[in-house]
Amino acid sequence: MRRPVVAGNWKMNGTQAEAAALVGGIEQGLAGVRHAELLVCPPFVLIPVVAEWLGGSRIAWGGQNLSAHKSGAYTGEVSGAMLRDFGCSHVIVGHSERRALYGEGDEVVAEKFRAAQNVGLVPILCVGETLAEREAGETEAVIARQLDAVVHLAGVAAMDSAIIAYEPVWAIGTGKTATPAQAQAVHAFIRQRLAQLSATVAERLRILYGGSVKAANAQELFGQPDIDGGLIGGASLDAGEFLAICRAAG
Ligand code: 13P
Repeated sequence: MRRPVVAGNWKMNGTQAEAAALVGGIEQGLAGVRHAELLVCPPFVLIPVVAEWLGGSRIAWGGQNLSAHKSGAYTGEVSGAMLRDFGCSHVIVGHSERRALYGEGDEVVAEKFRAAQNVGLVPILCVGETLAEREAGETEAVIARQLDAVVHLAGVAAMDSAIIAYEPVWAIGTGKTATPAQAQAVHAFIRQRLAQLSATVAERLRILYGGSVKAANAQELFGQPDIDGGLIGGASLDAGEFLAICRAAG
């Protein structure tokens, strides 16, 4: 049995006071969440506030991005070691907004994945196709390319201490969720592709769905055999809504 994971990606939102109120609210409602693994990914500067609130709780925290480099002359960047220093256990890599808005290609994403694992962070590797790619029938080819770049650099065994998030770009922040069947088909494809390299790793791997997940659709999505939780954007900014999604994960 794979333990479900629900991760909140706050994106570029929140003040210190809002972050404190949000994690405080989430903590208060945790009793209803049975065994799902939970984490929040705030913007870098809010990590200390979140860490102060969540230290000793069952909610982990992570970064939304990291540098592929260890340290040095990379103005504006944050390293994996710095995230570890602030108690992060996870980091998102290859989010579609990083790929589309900041030009992160498959090779850079793979380097970041490896940089995260080198310092003991669990990478949450995001993959997903655009609407144009889906309509052109290229969904599987795109996902395969994004996945293979990482496996090529890090090896399939590295997937044993990683999480994958399938986030169709057309479903992010649009209110247009993939149907449970659409999402399940891609999740199964990801698992099968990795199973060709290691059946054991593929079976254990948690694959999260992301893209307009809300309390109202979470249960049906998480009920699919290859969907092991969610990476939640907008709905993770509301404690009540996020908790309802966490409860749906089990
Ligand atoms: P939304 O849940 O706002 O669609 O965002 C999904 C996402 O990008 C999470 O990383």
